[in-house]
Amino acid sequence: MTLRANSQSNFNFYRNPTLNHRNITSSWLVQNITLRAMSTILPADRVKNEKESVWNEFIQLALEEKPEVNLGQGLPDYRDAVPSHVKDNLIKAVSGPNYMLNQYTRGFGHPRLVNALSQLYSKLIQRTIDPRKEILVTIGAYESIYCSINAFINKDDEVLIIEPFFDCYEPMVRLAGGKCIFVPLRLRKSSESAPTTSADWRLDMSELESSITSRTKMLILNTPHNPIGKVFSRQELQDLAQICNKHNLIVLSDEVYEHLVIDGEHVRIASLPTMWDRTLTVGSAGKTFSVTGWKLGWCYGPEHLMKYVQLFHQNCIYTCPTPIQEAVAESIETETALLGTENSYWSNLALSLRKKRDLMVDYLRKVKLDPTIPEGGYFLLANTSAISSKYDFSQEHGLTKDHRFVRWLTKNKKLQGIPPSAFYSLEHKNLAEDYIRLCYFKDEETLKQAGTLLSRL
Ligand SMILES: Cc1ncc(COP(=O)(O)O)c(C=O)c1O
Repeated sequence: MTLRANSQSNFNFYRNPTLNHRNITSSWLVQNITLRAMSTILPADRVKNEKESVWNEFIQLALEEKPEVNLGQGLPDYRDAVPSHVKDNLIKAVSGPNYMLNQYTRGFGHPRLVNALSQLYSKLIQRTIDPRKEILVTIGAYESIYCSINAFINKDDEVLIIEPFFDCYEPMVRLAGGKCIFVPLRLRKSSESAPTTSADWRLDMSELESSITSRTKMLILNTPHNPIGKVFSRQELQDLAQICNKHNLIVLSDEVYEHLVIDGEHVRIASLPTMWDRTLTVGSAGKTFSVTGWKLGWCYGPEHLMKYVQLFHQNCIYTCPTPIQEAVAESIETETALLGTENSYWSNLALSLRKKRDLMVDYLRKVKLDPTIPEGGYFLLANTSAISSKYDFSQEHGLTKDHRFVRWLTKNKKLQGIPPSAFYSLEHKNLAEDYIRLCYFKDEETLKQAGTLLSRL
């Protein structure tokens, strides 16, 4: 490959009359220096065996195959998804009278934003949160998760991860030197004839507890859950809290879909008795206001934990974009005042998601792709076995059946989803082989089109 590239450039070199003797020498030098660098500069051990994530593969596949309907990535595809006050706030932040909003702001979070977050969450979890010491603003929820893991996980520390899981948890723990211990949610329906819901995916608390050792330091929880849509019940969270208290575990609670609850209530584990002191809770402006491209998130928790998360952030990102923080701050102020009223964006978002979810569930049932009806978030899992058994997709690339099927579906039926085995550890990927993850936070027209593509299967 290298040789071919070099001989190609030599070829151009000799045909190019503008190259003189000096160019010849410098070009030869450049090529040799490049060759030497390629053979002697090695990546760090921590990164050399890392693989590209499912997102890179499927976003590239979508660019190449141009599916008619893409229900792969979690994002809305219509203009009105973003409230107009949120967009206006960003324009105002960038072009308004306070021109200093285009410059750096406080590293741990823009003052107006940490104050707005403190107001909101103090109300939601019924305790006063210190905006300076108990909140950190980050580049997306992603960075909050990264900093929280790195602030507490030492080599060989064990981290409990509930499967399926948002795929970045595993490499983040591994890169910090820790070891992931996976405990799967298991589908256990109380009645075979009833429709499957995300509440039927249950965590066996004794299985979880028996996975704990003297090295276990952290539990990563995600509610509402991606990809199943499970909203952990108060009882389940109380059981988890009891285990975490007994074994002195930190809880990293990823609650990015906190405002996207369709059935039931979102309980913040940090609000349960004795849990504040051991919980780091993560939120996302991207999910909160349907602006995933803004990539702003936050983490809140007790000062004795947050100070280390803040220090880790200080040494990798330092500070997040000021105008985005200003706009999110103002939007949160507005929505905190509207909380629980009929004008609340969050209440209306949950209502519109219910309609979209029900539409998608109908389309899937018509073609016998049994869906797990999600209680929250904006994804659902559908069982593909009734259809995948009819086609041959063995030529597709992929370790697992769902991966090959989802690639085939994108290419041949122009409908894209995500293979849920990406959300499982290597040893449990088989649990996802008969499923596809679909995002239903889309325009109703898009969902209808998905229904049409599905009906052709
Ligand atoms: C469960 C979960 N956590 C975290 C994130 C990352 O959020 P952000 O875009 O704010 O980094 C996502 C994004 O899809 C997610 O689904």
